[in-house]
Amino acid sequence: MRRDMTVGRRRFTFLDAGRGEPLVLIHGFPLAAEMWQPQLDAVPDGWRFIAPDLRGFGAAAVFDDTPARTIDEHAADIIDLVDALHLDRVVVCGLSMGGYAALALLRLAPTHLRGLVLADTRPQADTVEGRQGRLEMQALVERAGPGDVADRMLPKLLSATTRADRPEVALRVRAMIEANGAGAISAALDALMTRPDSTPLLPAIRVPTLIIVGEDDELTPPALSEEMHGLIPGSQLVRIEGAGHMSNLERPDAFNTALRSFLESIKS
Ligand code: MLT
Repeated sequence: MRRDMTVGRRRFTFLDAGRGEPLVLIHGFPLAAEMWQPQLDAVPDGWRFIAPDLRGFGAAAVFDDTPARTIDEHAADIIDLVDALHLDRVVVCGLSMGGYAALALLRLAPTHLRGLVLADTRPQADTVEGRQGRLEMQALVERAGPGDVADRMLPKLLSATTRADRPEVALRVRAMIEANGAGAISAALDALMTRPDSTPLLPAIRVPTLIIVGEDDELTPPALSEEMHGLIPGSQLVRIEGAGHMSNLERPDAFNTALRSFLESIKS
């Protein structure tokens, strides 16, 4: 179910499924809450999944907001939403850019977190070459629009297996990218390229943490997840065969199985 909510002068829109202990799903770049549909359709008993559209993306595009140009602003929005929903402590699951926001949340509001799922993401900041790529993509989106961003990103977002065997997934991801405005994509590129290095936070994480990665993820390859796993005390790592960067959409059953057993292990 989609819900809208006004908090102070800001409006939020999010998908809400299930009843019980809260888990917040944070989407990747340049996508929308809708990318979590396979998880929202399979919420384990006793859990409530909440998937906000980050500022400027998906259904939030209709709100006349100042774009968020830092990851911390996206994380602060999520903290405001969690507070407004009186959720107290939540499990946060972020994929890629959503993982960067989850790590920012850990830095800004650690007491709000009771568990962490880091999917197809990394703790490091962008490299110099990475920033150069962001600037090129900003020029591309401002010149040619989101369709060209989709052309460029799709081969990196999805594994060759998914692209060959499940073309409908590629169509769905393309539609999500193309529904976003150039302004939101450009602002998010600023947020991505200015995000701080979160590596120093990892050894201090004290909440249960699950790391998930697609075996064929080219954007945040499994080696990075192995490294995070080594740095986060007591963390679990699940590698998903046949999936690329969008592991939750490419192999929803495997992703949901990993998520469900993690949630069972931490249920109060
Ligand atoms: C994402 O999926 O959110 C992006 O690939 C993140 C990134 O480019 O760093």
